[in-house]
Amino acid sequence: MFVVSVCSLKGGVGKTSVTLGLASAALHQGINALVIDLDPQADSTLGLLGEAATSTDIADVLSSPRTESVDRAIIPTPWAQGASSHLDIIPGSNRSALVDSPALSPRDVKRLRDALQKRSHEYDIVLVDCPPSLNGLTQMALAASDRSLVVAEPGFFAVTAADRALKLSVEMREEGLAPRLQPLGLVINRYRPRSVEHQYRLAELRELFGDAVLEPVIEERVGLQQAQGGAVPLHEYQGASGPRLTADFDALLRVIMDSRQYS
Ligand SMILES: Nc1ncnc2c1ncn2[C@@H]1O[C@H](COP(=O)(O)OP(=O)(O)OP(=O)(O)O)[C@@H](O)[C@H]1O
Ligand SMILES: [Mg+2]
Repeated sequence: MFVVSVCSLKGGVGKTSVTLGLASAALHQGINALVIDLDPQADSTLGLLGEAATSTDIADVLSSPRTESVDRAIIPTPWAQGASSHLDIIPGSNRSALVDSPALSPRDVKRLRDALQKRSHEYDIVLVDCPPSLNGLTQMALAASDRSLVVAEPGFFAVTAADRALKLSVEMREEGLAPRLQPLGLVINRYRPRSVEHQYRLAELRELFGDAVLEPVIEERVGLQQAQGGAVPLHEYQGASGPRLTADFDALLRVIMDSRQYS
């Protein structure tokens, strides 16, 4: 059982891109992975399947958090065709927005954890793509998680948002709502090394958050958007900016997998 949530208070910072980049790296490294699309926008579902799902989805799992619901909702992705490892998904659903309340009862916070209890051990890693808020769905993800990643862009408004997201993990653990959770830190995404502003903001984030700023920092590369547009794994994409990005996601996945020893 190794569940990793990818979250942030802010929208559009790259949660889905980091989830898909890590999923691609898992496939490349022969690591069995399950992606859970907890965002009602269902972007990682579109990214992994190339179309919206028509099958049982995460909303059904959350309304009936049992192993049978999970079994029904898990589907293989086209990315994994012919691969040596599994890459499956529980598709997202706009109906999951119905349970995204800011003040969930402790019983409701446990819905995803209850659902995953018996199945998630079959995967080496479960990646949960969260919506852009710290409301109920993200809280459900954290309650089910062993590790959390907070995604941030190198900008002025990133600091407060990142701080609040990191603190939520710590608070939920202390309150007993997320018993296994250890926050791993910040993934800085869309970094432009030649931008003086980005250099300044990255230095600021490192000064404020220290070791919580994870390496490698993910650069802004057009190849990522092209791979997403084609609904293909980054590691299969042959564009000019491919190799650097795949190496970074490979390295980030290694950091995450290595963190399993700190339980
Ligand atoms: N490293 C990157 N290089 C280039 N483009 C990127 C990078 N990361 C993200 N993007 C682009 O930025 C946009 C937002 O990214 P993404 O959808 O992953 O963010 P998100 O945090 O999941 O958004 P939301 O909060 O809506 O769920 C997308 O068009 C994506 O292709
Ligand atoms: Mg997203």
